[in-house]
Amino acid sequence: MRIGIFDSGLGGLTGYRALRELLPAHDLIYFGDNARVPYGTKSGEVICRFALQDVRFLLSQKVEAVLVACGTVSSNALELLERTFPLPFVGVVEPAAKRAAEIAAAGNGRVLVLGTAATVGSGAYEKAIKAIDPAIRVESVACPMFVPLAENGFTQKGDIAATEIAKRYLKPYEAFSPDAMILGCTHFPLLSDILTDVLPAPLQVSAGEEAAKAMAKAALALSPAAGTGQDLFFTSDDPEAFRKNAAAFLGRPITAEIKRIEIEKY
Ligand code: DGL
Repeated sequence: MRIGIFDSGLGGLTGYRALRELLPAHDLIYFGDNARVPYGTKSGEVICRFALQDVRFLLSQKVEAVLVACGTVSSNALELLERTFPLPFVGVVEPAAKRAAEIAAAGNGRVLVLGTAATVGSGAYEKAIKAIDPAIRVESVACPMFVPLAENGFTQKGDIAATEIAKRYLKPYEAFSPDAMILGCTHFPLLSDILTDVLPAPLQVSAGEEAAKAMAKAALALSPAAGTGQDLFFTSDDPEAFRKNAAAFLGRPITAEIKRIEIEKY
């Protein structure tokens, strides 16, 4: 089975990495729209247009299911994608909301959602958590600066710039004392150590990882025929920059070919 995975850039590789571990023999086709990142500061209309193009490209690669490894697209365009294409889609919102709700139910019933401006503006995580358990209290905070920090490697524990920015975003939620903190943008797990330093108590839920688990379960149920374990990487920008920066997201270098595509053609 061929599974497409896409994101505005490199963040979706956190989902890809988890999915590859769970499905070693499936074919995984990754597209990062690095030429147009970030999506999270854009309007719903633009996010929808980009998402449609991203999926049309993946369909040209004959994918049979799609992991929407982008919190911004999952929050703003998943229903549109499901209505438009006759394919199974897994987004990051529902799986992460489910995990966070479980953690909160075993604690004080509080979840903090970190996302891009477009994700937080959509209210999608909050809606999904409340649908599971209306008693859970949810606070959400837009952390747009985390995306360029992650894309540019400002992620080392103790990084002064990243830590200061994280303090600005998160310190106001210290008194809220969340049980779970959803890293609702797939770039954010790279800043995990820094987030722990700033707000140590809540358990972190990686949206990309939770979605990968849901995708693996769906893929195994849909088609027992795996594939050849092929990895294909595509980007709308410079493949060598993708290769250089992807290693931090994947925890290993990419040795496979990375192809550049013209996403506006799709
Ligand atoms: N990985 C994207 C997300 O999960 C990054 C956000 C962006 O492009 O702004 O939302």
